[in-house]
This record gives sequence, structure tokens and C-alpha cells, in this order.
Amino acid sequence: MKKAALMLVATAAAVVVLLPGVAAAQAGDVTFHKDIEPILQRSCQVCHRPNNMAPMSLMNYQESRPWARSIRNKVVAREMPPWHVDPNVGIQDFKQDRSLSQAEIDLVAAWADAGAPRGNPADAPPAVELPDFGAWEIEPDVVVTSPPHTVPAEAGDWWGDYIVDSGIPNDRYIKAIQTKAGDLRVVHHALTYAVTDPDAPLNDSSNDFFLNEYAVGKNADKYPDGTGKIFEGGSRVRFSFHYHSIGEEVVDRTDLGLVLYPEGEVPEKILYSRQLGQAGELDIPAGQVTRHDGYATMYLPGKLTGFQPHMHFLGKRQCLELIYPNSTTEMVSCVNFDFNWHIVYNYADDAQPVYPAGTKLHVISYHDNTESHRGNVDALNWTGGGSRTIDEMAFGWISWYDLTDEEYQEELDARANNND
Ligand code: HEC
Repeated sequence: MKKAALMLVATAAAVVVLLPGVAAAQAGDVTFHKDIEPILQRSCQVCHRPNNMAPMSLMNYQESRPWARSIRNKVVAREMPPWHVDPNVGIQDFKQDRSLSQAEIDLVAAWADAGAPRGNPADAPPAVELPDFGAWEIEPDVVVTSPPHTVPAEAGDWWGDYIVDSGIPNDRYIKAIQTKAGDLRVVHHALTYAVTDPDAPLNDSSNDFFLNEYAVGKNADKYPDGTGKIFEGGSRVRFSFHYHSIGEEVVDRTDLGLVLYPEGEVPEKILYSRQLGQAGELDIPAGQVTRHDGYATMYLPGKLTGFQPHMHFLGKRQCLELIYPNSTTEMVSCVNFDFNWHIVYNYADDAQPVYPAGTKLHVISYHDNTESHRGNVDALNWTGGGSRTIDEMAFGWISWYDLTDEEYQEELDARANNND
């Protein structure tokens, strides 16, 4: 019932926004300043500007024109902007969603196909103010810094971890958190975790708590009032990096900043982010696309706030489904996975799924060990599970908080009222 209503709304919205795009495309008057520049401002320039993570700047017509063809291809394939949630499955309301609508994609294609016309500079939208990833957006109580890492002028991409003491002796709750890359040009992504196991190996984060990701050109995570993520006393911090070379040698040190609740204060709601739904033994024969399933039972009612698929090079797609205690199911999200991008998909507040005690999370992972898969280094090899980058993984990073039975019932009632 609820699902049907949602589908109707989605279809109606798609029709309404699609029409202007199609009309404009047919009229052949799509121009850079009128149609494309606003899209670049909203969805691209945050990364595609000087001295930032993306390989080229798209700040104006001169810079964008030579890339028109490539922009078209990446946008139509939904590889850029990096936002790989399947737009046809499950929840579509997210925080910090930079993805393009089908109408916008059609505009970009029409523009490139028409020879990337500039149009009238008077149509240009005013320049936008872009967030500064090189600065603190929070006032951290604690800063943990990764050791210096030298990124050579020319080298293949580097994926690897560092574990650093946090200097936080007692349990604390995190109010806000930000990863601040030392040199934005070389840090493709940096993920941070709290490592509670004193003997944790460098390359296995399976017992860690996920903290924060710096990969989507985003700034601080500020948790809603009264909520916080636990940082267990004595935990260390794992930095998981993807560095890439830029033609000059760069030494990077990246900071993790934490704003904490005062010592001894426990927020009303504790946010968790854990690896869940790990599939059993992975068996990925050469030349095949495989599916593996993993499950996790939620023993308390709760609210799901975010989903981040985790696989390695062969990862192709991952879906998250809820299996309710009455055996009905609901597909929450599917992501067309790209190993280059570790994006946390945070659901908008009123779209966060709530579930009763005993619900199972079902994580469905597809790996592609065929030659046609871009990430495949060796399609002739069987691949199994493991923590080296050339081994495979299959689980979701799931963010949630628990609810009491009464809170769960209240959420259900509130949503039922909203849908009337
Ligand atoms: C979160 C940062 C980010 C955003 C937002 C983003 N890009 Fe990118 N883009 C990158 C990075 C980094 C690369 C390098 C390839 C990779 O890592 O996937 C890239 C690569 C590209 C390429 C290929 C360049 C080449 O060398 O062939 C094109 C074209 C492109 N982006 C266009 C766009 C467009 C158009 C948008 C907006 C609709 C956009 N990007 C949004 C970060 C971003």
C-alpha cells in the first residue's frame, strides 16, 4: 500500500520533469550557459575545480568544452557524478544527493550532440559558493592525524591502511565528525574507523566501527541533536586510503576531527555503523557473474539511516533488502558498485526505513569475474574471500539506531498519517 503510493508519486514526478528536457532537446537550443552550467554548479564543480580531487576543472565554458564528449558518456552511464544508487529500485530520498535527474541527463546528452554550444553569456547563472574541504567546518575537540604518506609523482593508485592512536582513554560519544584531507589533489578517498581490537591487522576492518568517509567531496557529518556515535575508550583510528599520483611528489597527512559529548554524557540515541550481512564463503569462478547472500538479524526495533556497499574490484552490484518477521520483504536500495567510490548513502530523515524486532537484513552481492568488467585484473583466475584488495568481500556497512517498541509504534503511526 505504502509502496504503491510512493511509486505513483515517483512516476508522476518523473513525467513532469522529463517534459521540459525532452522539449528543449528537440528544439535543439540547449546551451551551456542556460542549461548545462547550472547542472555543473550543483553536481560537478564541488570536485571538478582547481586543486581538488577530480582530474580537470569544469568551472566555465572554456574548461568544459573540450570534455563535452567525455562528460556526455560519463553522465549517460550514470558514472558521474559518482552516485551509484539504482534510480529504479527502493528508496530514492537521500541526504546530499548530487545525482542528475533523467531530464538533466537528457539535456547534457543533447548539448554534447549539438556540438556543445555556448549560448548567451547573459543566461549564465551566478557563480555558486563551493564548500572548502581544506578547512574545518566543525571545531574538533580531538584531532587524529594519519602518518605522512608520500605519493610519488608517477605511480599506480595506492590502496592501504594506517592505524593511529586516538588518545581517547574513555568511552565517548561523537556529536560531529570531519575528515580533512591534507592534500585534496591526491586523496581520492579516506575512510575512517574506530578499531576496538588491540591486535587488529592492518588490512582487515571487519571488527571496526565505521566513522566517516571523505570521498564524495563532502564536509562534516553533524549528527542530529540528541544522537551520537560511540567511540569506545582506548580505540585506535584506522585510516583507509585511496591515493593517486598527480605528476608531482606530494606528502599527505590527513586529519580526522571529532566533536565529542562531554565525558560521561550518553546521548538519547546511539548511532551504530557496522559491517553486516557478510556472505559466507565466496566462490567466484573465472568468467562468471556470481551472487552471494548474507543475513543479519536485528534483535531490537530500529531505524536504518545509511547504507554503504562493500566489495572489492569485482564488485558489480549490491542490494539491501529487509525481511520482516511476518516474512514479507522490502527492497531498500540497490547500488551499481564501483570500487573507486566508497559512498555512504544516507537516507533522508523521513525516508529512513523503520523495522520491528526480529527483522533480517538481507545483503545481496553480485561479483563480475568476466573480462568485460572494468575492475577485473585477471579474468582467468578463480577468486574467493579475503582482505587483500585482490580478494573479494561482500557485506554492507549499515548505519542504524535502535528504537523502543513504543517508539517503533509511534513512527509507524506517524508515517501512516503522512500517507493519508
Ligand atoms: C565527488 C567528486 C566528483 C563529482 C561530484 C563529480 N566528479 Fe567527475 N570525476 C571525479 C574524479 C575523482 C574523477 C577521476 C576518475 C574517477 O576517480 O572515477 C572524475 C572523472 C570524470 C570524468 C572523466 C575524466 C577523464 O579523465 O576521462 C568526467 C568526464 C567527469 N568526471 C565529469 C563529471 C561531471 C559532468 C560531473 C557532474 C555531473 C562530475 N564529473 C561530478 C570526481 C567527481
